[in-house]
Amino acid sequence: MAKKHLFFPGQKILLKPHSQLYKGTYEVTVHEITRNSLRVTMPYDNGRIVLLAVGTEVEIKGANTVFQSKIVDKEHSENSTLTIAIPECVRESQHQNNTGPKIIAVTSGKGGVGKTNFVINVAIALAKKGLRTFIIDADLGTANVDVLLNIHPKYTLQDLVEGTKDNILDIIVEGPEGIQIVPGSSGFQSLADLSENELSNVIKKFEPLQEYADVIIIDTGAGLSRNVIKFVLAADEVIVITTTEPHAITDAYAIIKVLDDKDSTLNTKLIVNRVDSKNEAVKIIKRMESVVERFLNIKVTGLGYIFEDPNIRKAVKNYTPFIKYSPHSLAAKCITGLADKINPLNKQTDNMSNKSFLAKLKKIFS
Ligand SMILES: Nc1ncnc2c1ncn2[C@@H]1O[C@H](COP(=O)(O)OP(=O)(O)OP(=O)(O)O)[C@@H](O)[C@H]1O
Ligand SMILES: [Mg+2]
Repeated sequence: MAKKHLFFPGQKILLKPHSQLYKGTYEVTVHEITRNSLRVTMPYDNGRIVLLAVGTEVEIKGANTVFQSKIVDKEHSENSTLTIAIPECVRESQHQNNTGPKIIAVTSGKGGVGKTNFVINVAIALAKKGLRTFIIDADLGTANVDVLLNIHPKYTLQDLVEGTKDNILDIIVEGPEGIQIVPGSSGFQSLADLSENELSNVIKKFEPLQEYADVIIIDTGAGLSRNVIKFVLAADEVIVITTTEPHAITDAYAIIKVLDDKDSTLNTKLIVNRVDSKNEAVKIIKRMESVVERFLNIKVTGLGYIFEDPNIRKAVKNYTPFIKYSPHSLAAKCITGLADKINPLNKQTDNMSNKSFLAKLKKIFS
């Protein structure tokens, strides 16, 4: 399936200014598209020019998208035009992306093993490579994505579920390097109580991510609650994180067993966090691979490891992702390597499942 472009020259789109003076919705024509802006013809109302000032907030509605933005420039010439910023969350991929976003679920048996730190930092590493990277924060614990980044989302998934918000872009918050965060909070608890009809309404609200995302990383929290297991089952890749501590390893095995019970064809990977040496990681991975092979049907392969690194604690205290706080640290180097391994554009990464994004969404919510 060829990728649908969000905008193309000559396209008619709708522009609705948030203005005291002009309260209409005006059809304008797209002139030019750059990575971060859209130049359109000046709007007219019954043959009279609609004079909108730079800085006016507008809603833009195209065939496949609706978003809020503002006018950043205007030009009065023979062909008068307005330039509208395109928010990071609706930018087009710079890559050929015909399969829809890759969904990666990150989970663990034991809590506090480094999932959220991994998710945020690997998302930034992928965004730096030009991938439009989204995080769905399904971690209901306390130290979740918004807390680690010190951002205060106004809306959460709860608002999509309850219908106070209809457009997923309205709840998304932008993080460092343009990563896009879907704040979860208690929205995930209420998913379990929805009727079929209400669930399919929520699915529809997630559909735009097909157009906007190259990678979606889901931070599931520890122990796979009933509310997030479906996100994991719909993922193209499930990453289980453990530390080197024996009970974290045992709990990782327990979670892999749960995954095996649900769907033994899941593409499951293991990351060992807080290692002192590569050798320590290799031993743990080998042991897990062989125990799983012996007792379960599912296949687990080692994805890699992250060194124990005091910079992580310091970075957390500073509300800064460690890949930015100390980019040359051992942990940051590990993250960059892991990002290369999960980057859907790298040929050596696993094939993505051939399910469409919509089929995956249905799996999540059905
Ligand atoms: N590689 C590491 N080196 C040193 N400290 C680390 C490392 N990884 C994680 N930590 C420490 O562990 C803490 C917990 O990490 P994080 O919040 O990412 O875990 P989590 O698995 O998301 O926890 P929860 O299950 O509660 O959601 C971090 O704040 C940090 O202090
Ligand atoms: Mg967490």
